[in-house]
Amino acid sequence: MKRIFRLFPVFLLLSGTSCQTRIPVEEVLLPRPMQIERQRGNLPLKEPLQLSIEAPDTTVARLRHSLPACGLPLDADLRPVHSATPPRPTDNRPTLRLRIADDARLPASEEGYRLTISRRGIELSARGEAGLFYGFQTLRQLHDRYGDRLPALEITDAPRFAYRGLHLDVSRHFFDAEFVKKQLRMMAALKLNRFHWHLTDGAGWRLAIDRYPELTERAAWRQGATWQAWRDGGQRYSRRGDPQASGGYYTKEEIREVVACADSLHITIIPEIEFPSHSEEVLAVYPALSCSGRPGTTGDFCIGSEATFEFLENVLTEVLELFPSAMIHIGGDEAAKTGWATCPKCRERMRREGLTSTDELQSYAIRRIGRFLAEHGRRMIGWDEILDGGLAPGAVVMSWRGEEGGRKAAAAGHDVVMTPGSHCYLDGYQDNPTTEPQAFSGYLPLRKVYAYDPAPASMPGRERVLGVQANLWTEYIPTPEQAEYMLYPRLFALAEVAWSTPEGKDYADFHRRALWLTERARAAGYRTFDLAHEQGERLESLAETDHLARGCRVDYAAPWSEQYAAGGDGALTDGVRGSWSYGTRWQGFLACDVDVTLDLGEIRPLREVTADFIQWYSAWIWLPRRVEISVSDDGQEFRPLATLTNDYPEEAERPAYRAFGWQGSDRGRYIRYRALRNGRPGGWLFTDEIIVR
Ligand code: ACM
Ligand code: ZN
Repeated sequence: MKRIFRLFPVFLLLSGTSCQTRIPVEEVLLPRPMQIERQRGNLPLKEPLQLSIEAPDTTVARLRHSLPACGLPLDADLRPVHSATPPRPTDNRPTLRLRIADDARLPASEEGYRLTISRRGIELSARGEAGLFYGFQTLRQLHDRYGDRLPALEITDAPRFAYRGLHLDVSRHFFDAEFVKKQLRMMAALKLNRFHWHLTDGAGWRLAIDRYPELTERAAWRQGATWQAWRDGGQRYSRRGDPQASGGYYTKEEIREVVACADSLHITIIPEIEFPSHSEEVLAVYPALSCSGRPGTTGDFCIGSEATFEFLENVLTEVLELFPSAMIHIGGDEAAKTGWATCPKCRERMRREGLTSTDELQSYAIRRIGRFLAEHGRRMIGWDEILDGGLAPGAVVMSWRGEEGGRKAAAAGHDVVMTPGSHCYLDGYQDNPTTEPQAFSGYLPLRKVYAYDPAPASMPGRERVLGVQANLWTEYIPTPEQAEYMLYPRLFALAEVAWSTPEGKDYADFHRRALWLTERARAAGYRTFDLAHEQGERLESLAETDHLARGCRVDYAAPWSEQYAAGGDGALTDGVRGSWSYGTRWQGFLACDVDVTLDLGEIRPLREVTADFIQWYSAWIWLPRRVEISVSDDGQEFRPLATLTNDYPEEAERPAYRAFGWQGSDRGRYIRYRALRNGRPGGWLFTDEIIVR
């Protein structure tokens, strides 16, 4: 049932962002709307707008609550919307008309909307409250940019994906409820609607559970304020109140507050309780739930033990009381499974259930928890390992180890959320890794996040892709400032990937809008990366390098790795250099030295022989311990040109790109370049080109 309410006229108190230069609307809105028609003229906001709302009662009540936050400053005396409110006589003043309607001209999605701005006022229509909410967000960006003269236009808009997510790891470092709410507000402005809260992991349990108070007494605290200090100090936990205890957790009251805040912003919070692995903190407190029964031995629960399921179901029962989300995330990633193979209880479980591998044992555990959730009216979601060994229908798969898991899951009829490390892990470096603050994994600049398409036309089962999510793991993110720095502006790109259609994607256009929004976010107190001063890609990779050995044959005494072939046998003389990312055009050598001989075809005068290597500690990639360069006329007898040693510390976690080369004056046809690996077992060497001049 719809009713029409009229409010007293409200004044739009302007925020003073009146702008002199008119920027095209297309350069303001982020995420880019589906369709914009710019019309002639403007709506001056000097006069009070008359507000009318056509919507069901419940929506009106909620709108009343959210209207003051819509960015158009409203009269502080905004009167409660109530059926008894006497309608004011209309006059010629412009109106702000909000409508929930079943109108064929509106997008089919409940989250879609149509926004019309004309000299007569603003009309915002949608099929559902969420649509009105997103229309507000658009209005808010327009108002922020244009101040007291909104451009006349008509916008028809709807999201590409229903699931538009951000994940935050609060275990490796704890971020308080105020911080979370602040990010929820930014998410809403970006039209994101799922917040995946990674509440538990080895580095700390962050959620009060009444039945197990020890989880927050002991497992929410550790020795080491930073994750690195904790890791290097032997991963020791503390009790709350101990002098060196570092950590924290959310009380149930705080959780309820954050859930309510999210709800008002049309964001669903999906809590994650890690299972059956990443649970060192739980097993430190309750070692009996591990296979060995001893603390500090594993992060895997014992799947043979009924006590494990009793514990998890008790925890989940309280989680379900706190979080109304239809989906509950149960982790599922990176179980070592080693203890399961030899544990008598796990083996007995496998025997009784007819399971033939530890993958199937994990699958048993996941299915069992999935059943528990289903019995309580919820749906299980987990990292893509939940596919291993078979997955119950109805479970949702979050594809993180690349896109393969998502593709497999979609082909098998599962709904999927795409969040591949390659494009969605915002813990990677966003700019020059040698000058950026310490980060975790690879190089993920804004441009690459923007380029992502979670469901390309070529993907079988693409209709199963519910959406896309950015993940912020926080091993190397010890402060709220650093978290925001890593999130923004890359989350802007993810938001556009999630909301806008890929047709008409244009990075230059997006970049202009991202610059503007970054500036506005900074003004609003978000400590973003400084996009205006982005250094960009490694210069060497931007143009090909010409040199004497270009195109020459290379003989390998030890093979390059298939995983990082970079083009195979020609890679080191193709003139193409690696970018900041070791995954591009860098040739990788696993657990062996680089030992190559180049044939220049004839004896040539030589001035320089050099090659770049990288150190990327988190990827176990090392600079060579020593480099030996030698030369020969006949390919048999070599004489040394140079022996070089490495002075960059092995324990340095910051990535380094170093040249190891000889310069002088000599002659020769064959050049042997040997880079000797350090002693780290399973370590990599990466180089991109042997340059000869
Ligand atoms: C993950 O990054 N381990 C899901
Ligand atoms: Zn066991």
